[in-house]
Amino acid sequence: MNGADQLCRDLESRFGHAVHRSPCLGQCDRGSAALITRAGSDPERFVLAPVSADEVAKALSAGTVPTVPRVGASANGAGAKIVRRMNVADATSLASYRQHGGYQALAKAIEIGAAAVIAEVSAARLLGRGGAAFPTGRKWDAVAREPARPHYVVCNADESEPGTFKDRVLMEQDPFAVIEAITIGGLATGAERGFIYIRGEYPESERAIAGAIQQARAAGLLGVDVSGTGQAFDIEIRRGGGAYICGEETALFNSIEGKRGEPRSKPPFPAQFGLFGKPTVVNNVETLVNVLDILIDGGDAWSKTGTAGSAGTRLFCLSGHVVTPGLYEIECGQTLRHAIGVAGGIPNGRALQAVLLGGAAGTFVGPDALDMPLSFEGARAANATLGSGVIMVFDETADLMDTLARIAQFFRDESCGQCVPCRVGTVRQAELLQGRDPGSGIRDPGSGIRDPGSAHHSAR
Ligand SMILES: Cc1cc2nc3c(=O)[nH]c(=O)nc-3n(C[C@H](O)[C@H](O)[C@H](O)COP(=O)(O)O)c2cc1C
Repeated sequence: MNGADQLCRDLESRFGHAVHRSPCLGQCDRGSAALITRAGSDPERFVLAPVSADEVAKALSAGTVPTVPRVGASANGAGAKIVRRMNVADATSLASYRQHGGYQALAKAIEIGAAAVIAEVSAARLLGRGGAAFPTGRKWDAVAREPARPHYVVCNADESEPGTFKDRVLMEQDPFAVIEAITIGGLATGAERGFIYIRGEYPESERAIAGAIQQARAAGLLGVDVSGTGQAFDIEIRRGGGAYICGEETALFNSIEGKRGEPRSKPPFPAQFGLFGKPTVVNNVETLVNVLDILIDGGDAWSKTGTAGSAGTRLFCLSGHVVTPGLYEIECGQTLRHAIGVAGGIPNGRALQAVLLGGAAGTFVGPDALDMPLSFEGARAANATLGSGVIMVFDETADLMDTLARIAQFFRDESCGQCVPCRVGTVRQAELLQGRDPGSGIRDPGSGIRDPGSAHHSAR
């Protein structure tokens, strides 16, 4: 919607085969975007967004990694908590993080002990923010009780759902919060090693998290004796290789283990048989960061925000036809209309056509859904999903068939191929949306419908 096709054509005419089209770089708040690798013995990777072909040329010839202007996260209303340090604290400094309340939650966790931490997280009724809405307290409790050793904590920072960018912003702008939260998860569930699996297209997030880990280690907040507790805990970064499926927790374990990124059958569940076959807590970045406030406020008090079925706030990724795309923290239960309003509404007085909720794997809703409460139960009642917090807005001028064709193409390309309904079904679906005859045999899934040009219009 923001001219990415034209940008790709400009880049292809200037740089030829060095350009690869990507369906998603996790930058929907500021696209069109380019992920650039400057070759060399130690290749540099960086993202430019929004970007023009001239800017790419300039960045390639410059000797340093260009600084990308930060797009601010927005705190909205008294309920906003997760984003409060963003654009306020210095994200590269442990001292600044501490000045803004950082590491108080870890101190509290150490003071009250592992069982009480899990009790607070359970009392808060925190549900996972990665899409499946599983109760976090129950997950932590199950792992803590497992006699098998070692235990692991995995932070899922793969953020592979198109339209989502919340975890990237959290990692880039509040990396110490992510590290502190993983550490608390480790101490509470008896793990000595944690992993953070960062999406490969997020070099800035990786740099921010690596810097935070290094400073936390130097300050004794990670390592053989975390904050003088006598308990060891440390965190390793793993970079994803660009596969959507590796955001699924068991495919992610396989990926960390060096295997092909394909999901495992469940049961057994990760709490019993997770990473390296050991009891594992796996949580989304946003889920984990919520634990900090839960410990500071107390689980009961924290659970009073939001709704009965959806405690707390959520980070929503607003993009598409809104005046100010970006990351917005909104208390659970506010309406979809409110969320679009805080992003400035639809520009140029145009009418709303549809909203894609929850990401590419989510649900399209129409203008009749504007009063839907943004809560797990509100979405369920409307047969929709909040997924990973995507709110992608399409005004009356948007070509929805084009969008659908792109989504179908994405899932066709990203199917891991393990199961027949997906391996064949996503190809058929893409063909149908391209107006092709689905009965004519399976085409090479890597060719044929790269450019959703005019052919698909016959499907209307
Ligand atoms: C195809 C697929 C992709 C997924 N991608 C992600 C992802 O990118 N990030 C994420 O946190 N969860 C993702 N999930 C959900 C994870 O499997 C898992 O439920 C989540 O990491 C658990 O954390 P939570 O309880 O904190 O939400 C995905 C699930 C599926 C089926």
